Amino acid sequence: RAIYLKDYQQPDYWIETTHLVFDLGDESTRVTSTLKFHLNTSKKHDQLPPLELVGTDMELISVAIDGQVQTKEQYQISKERLILQPVFEQFETVIVNDIKPQENTSLEGLYSSSSMFCTQCEAEGFRKITYYLDRPDVMSVFTTTVIADKERFPVLLSNGNAIERKDLDNGRHLVTWNDPFKKPAYLFALVAGKLEFVEDTFTTMSGREVTLRIFVEPHNITKCDHAMVSLKKSMRWDEEVYGREYDLDIFMIVAVDDFNMGAMENKGLNIFNSSCVLARPDTATDATFQRIEAIVAHEYFHNWSGNRVTCRDWFQLSLKEGFTVFRDAEFSADMNSRTVKRVEDVNLLRSHQFVEDAGPMAHPIRPDSFIEINNFYTLTVYEKGAEVVRMIHNIVGKEGFRKGTDLYFERHDGQAVTCDDFVKAMEDANGVDLTLFRNWYSQAGTPVLDVTDEYDEDAQEYRLTVKQSCPATPGQETKKLFHIPLEMGLLDGEGEPMPLDKSGLTTKVLDIKQPEETFVFTGVDERPLPSLLRGFSAPVHLNYDYSREDLVFLMSYDEDGFNRWDSCQRLAIDIIMELVGKVQKGEELVLDSSLIEAFGKVLADDSLDKAMVAELLHLPSETYLAEQMEVIDIDAIHQARQFVKQSLAAALKDQLVAVYNELNIDKPYKPEADDIAERTLKNTCLGYLVELDEETGVQLAQAQYAGAGNMTDSMAAMSCLASAEHASSRPLAEKALQEFADKWAEDTNVIDMWFSTQAACHHNGLEKVKELMQHKAFDKKNPNKMRSLVGAFCGRNLVNFHDKSGSGYEFLADEVIRIDALNPQLAARLINPLTRWKRYDEERRELMQKVLKRIQQHELSSDIFEVVSKSLA
Ligand code: ARG
Ligand code: ZN
Repeated sequence: RAIYLKDYQQPDYWIETTHLVFDLGDESTRVTSTLKFHLNTSKKHDQLPPLELVGTDMELISVAIDGQVQTKEQYQISKERLILQPVFEQFETVIVNDIKPQENTSLEGLYSSSSMFCTQCEAEGFRKITYYLDRPDVMSVFTTTVIADKERFPVLLSNGNAIERKDLDNGRHLVTWNDPFKKPAYLFALVAGKLEFVEDTFTTMSGREVTLRIFVEPHNITKCDHAMVSLKKSMRWDEEVYGREYDLDIFMIVAVDDFNMGAMENKGLNIFNSSCVLARPDTATDATFQRIEAIVAHEYFHNWSGNRVTCRDWFQLSLKEGFTVFRDAEFSADMNSRTVKRVEDVNLLRSHQFVEDAGPMAHPIRPDSFIEINNFYTLTVYEKGAEVVRMIHNIVGKEGFRKGTDLYFERHDGQAVTCDDFVKAMEDANGVDLTLFRNWYSQAGTPVLDVTDEYDEDAQEYRLTVKQSCPATPGQETKKLFHIPLEMGLLDGEGEPMPLDKSGLTTKVLDIKQPEETFVFTGVDERPLPSLLRGFSAPVHLNYDYSREDLVFLMSYDEDGFNRWDSCQRLAIDIIMELVGKVQKGEELVLDSSLIEAFGKVLADDSLDKAMVAELLHLPSETYLAEQMEVIDIDAIHQARQFVKQSLAAALKDQLVAVYNELNIDKPYKPEADDIAERTLKNTCLGYLVELDEETGVQLAQAQYAGAGNMTDSMAAMSCLASAEHASSRPLAEKALQEFADKWAEDTNVIDMWFSTQAACHHNGLEKVKELMQHKAFDKKNPNKMRSLVGAFCGRNLVNFHDKSGSGYEFLADEVIRIDALNPQLAARLINPLTRWKRYDEERRELMQKVLKRIQQHELSSDIFEVVSKSLA
């Protein structure tokens, strides 16, 4: 069932133009497609090859070639294909087929969501709309006519510019759209509904005025402003930083409630999961505001990195996704705090992508085979892919990178290309050799750098030895070398940066290209402390034997902000993992005073960015701690981490209260970096205070909940009350949760946060989740709802999900089986926590394996089939 990158071949035919007519009906939709084909003459043909179109879940009504209706003897049809035999090198087909969007629960192709119709075609959803060459290297000019009832569907949208509007009989109307840019079918979009929009304009750098519209259901019209501001910032930034201008007269965003992913970059008509675009201070948290800014930018940036230059095949997905994630990360860094953004991204990478890279589904950022492409929209392709682009950026420098992207866009505009074309453009523009670097594209697994050092006082020499290795991953037993940029510096005993060479440079990038290499620094007059992997310059594990004193020292003095944070993480991990050992042996727990002192110092340091203080105070997540153990003992991790939180809260109580009070000031809500930083730090303090087995924190949380003027504070207070340690919190939490649910009953995105807060709370077991699934606001088919309960419980409430009884596993298996029949993509995301079964103790291992085998007994989608069979292999 797998397909392979090495088997790639160009198609036999190209499609010049695609004209689609959609007649949207109450039961079914009729699609009439007129396609102009011509033979791909760059391939050798003895005779005209058959035309193999793909299509599923549809009823063929008729097919004609050059006006000749084809009889059943003239074509072959199967569950997934329609095969025609052309007689000329150029020809036109007219295909009529019916589809049932109202019954489409997979949320791929054309489907209905609330009262509207919308599409999701990436990666292979277009084949659920009509028979086509549904592959990204087939690029065509699309003209789309949409016909529907005018009363119920006043707004009819597709890609490009509207070129005709007309009223028809029976209260129906029609709109025709034309997109002048050639594009693959995965970028096609259609929307129909009773929608309202907010409008703005943007003047591009060459002086063209572009209309910007955000379409939503009427009740959401007050939640579009932030996305609009974000869009305009993105458009300006892409001009300034990449010289990329928008190319159509109109840019549209549509918000829909049923969506498998975050959003989609359809040409000129981005479709968003409503949770990733709608925000108002009273309905969305700071995190949501920031996520919206990033996702709006991400989808907008795809207009160049993805649409104008697209992917040759789906193995190249990271070409557009890795690059675009890198672009949106840099945008967010420019709009907010650069170091904080870096910390957030590295946290995500290390706690989730590293896990993926060490598990049964590990794959290179450019996979060389897959069964189901939807399973490869992964943290590896996206986030590690972005890290690989970032490394190129670091190797060729900022200006070199811009030269490279200019060349890439100029050379490949209007083409479907490969990751290698991207690397080649970087090489050609900069005269560098990235041969060894290319192994990042073909090898899975997280490389390891083992670093040791020596100081020779007599010779005044410091030697740093770096060994690289990479663990085996499925299908890749041995690995070739990587080119790893290792940014580093040295600190003297005073904490001052030491010059690394005659130029006086205090930070530099070592290019690691050998299995083992020693770098010698001369004229070093005292034993230095190395600061390694600054800014997380490569997605690797770095081992160096730091003492706790070293880490505290780096936390205070390193000139690299990222490494100050990372030293704090290393210190916390070291301490928590030692306590985990003590929990396992039943020994008494005592918190090392170095962590208390370090955190106390951080809290007292007024010179630090408040968002950074909050990041420093965040203990490593249970997921990341779990990765440090060969055999994961989730109960011990939870206990040790809770103990550390409680001990810190007790030791630093007065300071935490003081910082909390200082920041707890009433002011108008602005989703801007400084204000967000203040709220984050304040709520981080509150998070510690509610760990105490006394009323202080509970009372503060209660007061904050009652007086909150925005969702960030209200949500934080509610979840603090829910997770608080002291018994006095229980009735208050119940009351707050009830009030919250009543107040927000009608707001689906807000209610999702209410669901996930409870599902992720360690006081709540599976029973609570089952109870919430019966709540009237819950919808067992909606991806956001499923993720907010089932996803949050299984992914974040680890102690309860991994309950020794195995009830969490049985529950997840039942849900996966149920959902797989409706929406395979969603099922394949939810099943993820079960795939790491090999890392747990024997009892849990068996329980998890048992439910995986039970799932395997069912009739499965290719999505779940692939994940389950690879997990059990
Ligand atoms: N290209 C979209 C983005 O990066 C993701 C769409 C993925 N859709 C899917 N069905 N796998 O924003
Ligand atoms: Zn993307």
